[in-house]
Amino acid sequence: ISVALLFGGRSGEHGISCVTAGGILRAIDRDRFTPIPIGITPSGRLVSVTDDPDHWVIRDGRAPEVPEDGEEVLLPTVAKTAGKPSQLRVIRGGRVEHLADVDVFLPLLHGPYGEDGTIQGLFDLLDLPYVGSGVLASAVCMDKDFTKRVLADAGIAVADGCVVRQEDWCTDEGRAEIRARVAELQAPLFVKPSRAGSSLGVSRIEDLDGLEEALRSAFEVDPKVLVESGVNGREVECGVLRTSRRHPVRSTQPGEVAIGDDLEFYDFESKYFGKGTVRIDVPASISEERAAQVRDIAERAFVALDLETLARVDVFVTDSGVIVNEINTMPGFTPFSMFPVLWENMGITYRELITELIDSALA
Ligand code: DAL
Ligand code: MG
Repeated sequence: ISVALLFGGRSGEHGISCVTAGGILRAIDRDRFTPIPIGITPSGRLVSVTDDPDHWVIRDGRAPEVPEDGEEVLLPTVAKTAGKPSQLRVIRGGRVEHLADVDVFLPLLHGPYGEDGTIQGLFDLLDLPYVGSGVLASAVCMDKDFTKRVLADAGIAVADGCVVRQEDWCTDEGRAEIRARVAELQAPLFVKPSRAGSSLGVSRIEDLDGLEEALRSAFEVDPKVLVESGVNGREVECGVLRTSRRHPVRSTQPGEVAIGDDLEFYDFESKYFGKGTVRIDVPASISEERAAQVRDIAERAFVALDLETLARVDVFVTDSGVIVNEINTMPGFTPFSMFPVLWENMGITYRELITELIDSALA
């Protein structure tokens, strides 16, 4: 079974996606699957890349990157329903050559242009089987504002907050209105791009004095930004799987990300580059009752958002209940990432998990 692994991409999580792909290239069951690695460069070219897992690792504090000068790969241009096998072709020495017939696509992309429904739309258009959620669920989960609206509608608690658009912040009137809305929120405040991942562009501020600078960093990532009341709770994550619509939704025992006093929050550098004190506890040392509640909410969120195959639901466990922070439709997927570790704890190995995901798209 030939599996096209798509990774890298145009988002700020390019390097993290490459590391995810490296983990999968190392562990995929090669008796059953032939992986075809296809990198998407930061500028958006699809290129043929090495399948050597050692290439796709963080080295000397630098995340790997898909080289811009690779041989360009052409996706199928005709829907499978039109009777053609799903062929990948490559431009080699100015000529178009056959690269591989593909049975299934595994989009290992994090962030916009990959985790947000865009590539899923292309796959749907061409009738290509792929792993993961469809267009709408991917798009909704990429946008934290819309995620919160759907969750709230399903009776699931989310943090208080407001949306700030860059064009409104640019006028005196807009600024005054935004400041008034933000003033009603509970400090500390979290300022985050609505459509990004891995905490890119996120700031924690103690009061309105820091708002301007925090918005500026967030606008560099997305012109749509959320300002939210900080939630006083423990950061807990839950893995969810449903490999067929006929099967029930399954969830993991939750895990916890516990950060030390040397960190303001679990930011990009602490996630991937070892900044500060971070302890990952799987399972989380929360009460059985709270863990059951987290799992119930994660499964309900999965259904409410019409998610497919996999998701990691990130929540805060507070004294008064569970508040959903965000949902990742293609969570970090190295062997050390929270999602695979959560499933390992449930008795499913990293390799088995990869197999299960790919099989789900072929069923
Ligand atoms: N967005 C990153 C990859 C994660 O949530 O794991
Ligand atoms: Mg995320």
